[in-house]
Amino acid sequence: MIVILMARACNVHSNKEGVLLPAQRSIAMISEMIHTASLVHDEVIDDSDTRRGKNTINKLWGEKKAILAGDFILSAASMALARIGNNTVVSVLSQVIEDLVRGEFMQLGSKENENERFKHYLEKTFKKTASLIANSCKAVSILVNSDPEVHEIAYQYGRNVGIAFQLVDDVLDFTSCANRLGKPSAADLKLGLATGPVLFACQQFPELHAMIMRRFSSDGDVDRAWQYVLKVRRICVVYRQVNLMKTCPGAAFIKH
Ligand code: FPP
Ligand code: MG
Repeated sequence: MIVILMARACNVHSNKEGVLLPAQRSIAMISEMIHTASLVHDEVIDDSDTRRGKNTINKLWGEKKAILAGDFILSAASMALARIGNNTVVSVLSQVIEDLVRGEFMQLGSKENENERFKHYLEKTFKKTASLIANSCKAVSILVNSDPEVHEIAYQYGRNVGIAFQLVDDVLDFTSCANRLGKPSAADLKLGLATGPVLFACQQFPELHAMIMRRFSSDGDVDRAWQYVLKVRRICVVYRQVNLMKTCPGAAFIKH
């Protein structure tokens, strides 16, 4: 939906009618397919058994079939991308696939240096979540506008929405429950992941540093880390201090 709205905004901005071009609609579909394929693979990595309130493919048919199903969706998306017949768009959306995989690799590692840790977390967040929205928004703008400044505005809008989405998703893992999320909650610590709430809590409780480095693998680590995070009150206010959305350059453009 974000990609379709961006396409309409770009079309109006470029003095064309707001009506979608077939290739823009294809990009929105391809974007959704890449997203779905990555989630099908993600359930295997996270050993997750529910998504959007339903059983995951790995739970129903096992990991091998889930990996192949994800590959199949990705191959269908690649064929649809080739059919658009625009080399720049192919290159922009191929970048998403590279970023998704690099983002997952980054998530497997932890940084010893606390200053580097937050930078690593935001870069990982961009690659695993925001690159898809940023580059999909850019791709639909390329089809109707030759101005690189407009492509950059579309990209930055998607980037900001994508990073904000993942930051909130990481908070919800602590503050919501499986019934409301339609997927397991309290999952990240069990997977050894130190997301935003833990990194902020670590500034107040340095004891978390050792737990982060051993990826919460010792007995009681997950429970203790959980308690520390809950002690940091009003996580959302702290998140706002990151100020990621403050200078979203896409806002004025979208309003226009
Ligand atoms: C969900 O994150 C996962 C992603 C946004 C990306 C997953 C990417 C891969 C597994 C790489 C493979 C990519 C392709 C194109 C096949 P999350 O686990 O934080 O969110 P969740 O709580 O909703 O599961
Ligand atoms: Mg997951």
